[in-house]
Amino acid sequence: MQPTTSSLLQSLPVLLRIRIIPLLLIVMSATLPVPLNAFGEYQAIFNIEPEHLARSTLPVPNSTKSFWFTDPDVSPSPKHGSEGPLTEDADICIIGSGITGVSAAYHLAKAFSEGDAVKGLDRPVKAVILEAREFCSGATGRNGGHLTSHVFFEFHHQQSSYGTEEALRSYRIEEYVVNEVKTLLDQEDKLDYVDFVPGGRLCLAFTERELLEAKSDFTSAKEAGVDVSNVTWFSKEETQQKYGAPYPSVLTPGNNLWPLKLVSVLYNLANKIGAGNQSSAPAFTVDLHTETPVTSISSLPQTNNSSELFPRRHSVVTPRGNISCSYVLHATNAYASHLLPHFTGPDGIVPTRGQIIATRANVTEDILTKTGGVGNDGFEYWFPRPLKEPQEYPLVIIGGGREITKSERFELYQTDDSVVDEQVGKALRAFLPTVYPGKFEAGKEPEMEWTGIMGFTKSGDPFVGPVIDPTNPDSPIYRGQYISAGYSGHGMPRAYACAEAVAKMIVADVRKEKWEPPEWLPRSYLTIGNTSTSS
Ligand SMILES: Cc1cc2nc3c(=O)[nH]c(=O)nc-3n(C[C@H](O)[C@H](O)[C@H](O)COP(=O)(O)OP(=O)(O)OC[C@H]3O[C@@H](n4cnc5c(N)ncnc54)[C@H](O)[C@@H]3O)c2cc1C
Ligand SMILES: *[C@@H]1O[C@H](CO)[C@@H](O)[C@H](O)[C@H]1NC(C)=O
Ligand SMILES: *[C@@H]1O[C@H](CO)[C@@H](O)[C@H](O)[C@H]1NC(C)=O
Ligand SMILES: *[C@@H]1O[C@H](CO)[C@@H](O)[C@H](O)[C@H]1NC(C)=O
Ligand SMILES: *[C@@H]1O[C@H](CO)[C@@H](O)[C@H](O)[C@H]1NC(C)=O
Ligand SMILES: *[C@@H]1O[C@H](CO)[C@@H](O)[C@H](O)[C@H]1NC(C)=O
Ligand SMILES: *[C@@H]1O[C@H](CO)[C@@H](O)[C@H](O)[C@H]1NC(C)=O
Repeated sequence: MQPTTSSLLQSLPVLLRIRIIPLLLIVMSATLPVPLNAFGEYQAIFNIEPEHLARSTLPVPNSTKSFWFTDPDVSPSPKHGSEGPLTEDADICIIGSGITGVSAAYHLAKAFSEGDAVKGLDRPVKAVILEAREFCSGATGRNGGHLTSHVFFEFHHQQSSYGTEEALRSYRIEEYVVNEVKTLLDQEDKLDYVDFVPGGRLCLAFTERELLEAKSDFTSAKEAGVDVSNVTWFSKEETQQKYGAPYPSVLTPGNNLWPLKLVSVLYNLANKIGAGNQSSAPAFTVDLHTETPVTSISSLPQTNNSSELFPRRHSVVTPRGNISCSYVLHATNAYASHLLPHFTGPDGIVPTRGQIIATRANVTEDILTKTGGVGNDGFEYWFPRPLKEPQEYPLVIIGGGREITKSERFELYQTDDSVVDEQVGKALRAFLPTVYPGKFEAGKEPEMEWTGIMGFTKSGDPFVGPVIDPTNPDSPIYRGQYISAGYSGHGMPRAYACAEAVAKMIVADVRKEKWEPPEWLPRSYLTIGNTSTSS
């Protein structure tokens, strides 16, 4: 067996070790298995329309299995509502059962259960969630599990694109989501159930440029009033000593959790809140049909009866039958352009494949720490899973590596998550043993490996609001259709709130009230300049 650098170090006398460390570090930090500084090239490629541009496919049926599907006891079950009769008619049809669709259902349940609900309606408001595959089997059920806000990263980019006020909102929304989700889980006594770990996230600077950019974003964000009180900077030596990674770094507040379980908690809450208590009639119901892909949406003939609260406008078409709906929410993220062709291409939402491995560390948690990590302009991200037995070695979930496929366009326009990319897998396997010398075994096979499809936009920000066809803005065919999608790989700290915003737009439209954007919502996310959605 080849002696590793760490075993060599252990056999040296302490004094000699101290002198030899800096030399070894220079050698070790030079050989990352992924290209650095790839972000500019990625953006340039993103902006080029591919030769054979086509709307997204539907989700493929035979996706790889993610770590988040290893607990068989999650309720609702993966195939909930996939058999038996299909709901034929609903006030609100939600397409997609990820964090967006289910958060929308939760916020609709809350809004319709409050106050005097909907005036003149003598029955519960009825919603249905339609999911092409298993419950929450899209990006949310296959992601890296980070619920971590940007805190100050990318401040200059946000400020130069949208101005200071908007830049501040882009951080406020993330802070809002992290606080809301944490408070909600705490109130429901579900923090342990979702394995919530507020372990922080360490951003490693692999290049001088990344370090300078982060420092400059930090300074400007702080000056503009962003709360950076819990941000800590470490030199290369300090990072090596605390975390065993020889790079300068910055530690920000950050959490990780089990995303599928968070979504299951929200789904069950939506039902519970809608059902009300024993003394009140139910105000809201939500059905769920998995394995029910929506293949198209067609318009229903209108009676133009203005006293009807929920006129059925749309027929949502599935292989199991059609559903008449008044409102349709596209919570389809990467796949949005399948039903909404005008979201095809770089100005819309580009499906982009991400890959993840779950690999066992070679040291205990007290050495590895509970802190997650991110680096290389965000291309790689990882965190250790909490342990049942403290003496075990932690399982680390790490995603990224797609910048190694530069020549194949960074996995843009890939919708097949039934396969993994070998090149990306190789880079992911080599990453942690390189970054944390001696803490991972090089060459070791991961325990799991999977892919998932993200929805990227040119700005990096999602589309939130009524569906508007840019080539025909006055077309009535999208009346009552809304979208919240395109989180560009950073959805956990945003989707929950974007879904809240669209849910409240629908509620305002039903009640014929004017919708006012919440203070924390970046206006640049909105599909409409005019914030009123009342017709
Ligand atoms: C590998 C990977 C790693 C990621 N890591 C992180 C991370 O660590 N932190 C973070 O913040 N974000 C991360 N993201 C991004 C994050 O997961 C997403 O932004 C977020 O989950 C989007 O939620 P959503 O509900 O909008 O979309 P999804 O969870 O994708 O839900 C959309 C659902 O719609 C269904 N659907 C689509 N079309 C149809 C149709 N026509 N009919 C019926 N159903 C349909 C899909 O099957 C899917 O279940 C990652 C994503 C991936 C793929
Ligand atoms: C900073 O940390 C303290 C103590 O953990 C916490 O109460 C506070 O909310 C944190 N602030 C931010 C902005 O994260
Ligand atoms: C309802 O109104 C639309 C346009 O506002 C019109 O095209 C349609 O013919 C009307 N339908 C009926 C039944 O009056
Ligand atoms: C219009 O809708 C209301 C409420 O659903 C109903 O009571 C009324 O009969 C309808 N009017 C016509 C002309 O269909
Ligand atoms: C569903 O709608 C489509 C498109 O309008 C139509 O072709 C089809 O016949 C409908 N199916 C059923 C079962 O009604
Ligand atoms: C998944 O199914 C598709 C067809 O739907 C097929 O082309 C592909 O090879 C399958 N993938 C795997 C890994 O079986
Ligand atoms: C992994 O850990 C074992 C003992 O726990 C040790 O013998 C081995 O050298 C370690 N491997 C690496 C690559 O550090």
